[in-house]
Amino acid sequence: MSYASSLSPAVAGGHVANGAFGAGVRHETAPREDRLAVIAEGGTAAAVIHDSVALQSHVLDIQDFSLWYGSKQALHRVNMSIPKGRVTSLIGPSGCGKTTLLRCVNRMNDLIDNVRITGDMRLNRDSIFAKGVDVIGLRKRMGMVFQKPNPFPMSIYENVVYSLRIDGERSKSVLDDICERSLKGAALWDEVKDRLHENGLSLSGGQQQRLCIARAIASEPEVLLLDEPCSALDPIATNKIEDLIGDLAGEYSILIVTHNMQQASRISDYTAFMYLGHLVEYGATPDIFTNPHLTETNDYVTGRFG
Ligand SMILES: Nc1ncnc2c1ncn2[C@@H]1O[C@H](COP(=O)(O)OP(=O)(O)OP(=O)(O)O)[C@@H](O)[C@H]1O
Ligand SMILES: [Mg+2]
Repeated sequence: MSYASSLSPAVAGGHVANGAFGAGVRHETAPREDRLAVIAEGGTAAAVIHDSVALQSHVLDIQDFSLWYGSKQALHRVNMSIPKGRVTSLIGPSGCGKTTLLRCVNRMNDLIDNVRITGDMRLNRDSIFAKGVDVIGLRKRMGMVFQKPNPFPMSIYENVVYSLRIDGERSKSVLDDICERSLKGAALWDEVKDRLHENGLSLSGGQQQRLCIARAIASEPEVLLLDEPCSALDPIATNKIEDLIGDLAGEYSILIVTHNMQQASRISDYTAFMYLGHLVEYGATPDIFTNPHLTETNDYVTGRFG
């Protein structure tokens, strides 16, 4: 039995995504429980995408996307759409390509030598990888926050309004308003409103990360990309960021990489499980954690594997 046939929509309550682009997709023949082993041996297994994701409207469409670092393939024909105004978590073992996928969304792969890609991504229908795309303009439509907080060595105020200054905004009242709104949005205003002109690097790690989120939302991005934003933080700072993500959801579309299963289940509406550069299963978070279609996903989220 092939994977595709063993996971037909009628059986699985979802649809099989890889292969939606037709030619060249291989479906190995193997028992369903060996799916991850097939991937590990270089084979292909169609991703299972639940109807709950497919039926949403999407801010970002990842289309048949592959990436190679030199001769090493790190992403394999990923097809995945990110719902608008929701939080989507990317989970999977270390090295499965989560950061690679996230960084491609804002074309950070351009900065690495010897990277080759095929396929495309679309931000609100606009191609991210088409020839001639204005990459700087594209990046302005997204906000990105990294594992380690990286405030610029300048004041809290200037950190927040940085992108607007670059865009030539000169009005003090406009910048003041955006600074206050963004810091409030990042749940940091009350802690810093009396020290806006102190250096951003003088803040605690958790405050620095919220400052980076304030900077990322200042230009009202269409999608907010967060790569393990809590991994360098203590539990209290982590709670604050998690609460903040909850508050931002609805207004912002958020794609977050996390290693922490509890965090993914607490904060996200949708969860995608990746393995060795392949999307394996993607659905509403409660379904992925308590009722996944695949035993492989269940084994991973319950800690029996990985
Ligand atoms: N700049 C690079 N050059 C070459 N290979 C790379 C580069 N960055 C990542 N890789 C490789 O690509 C694969 C995916 O890496 P990536 O960092 O995307 O994984 P990840 O899922 O984010 O892992 P982690 O959970 O440890 O952060 C890994 O095998 C990694 O070694
Ligand atoms: Mg990573």
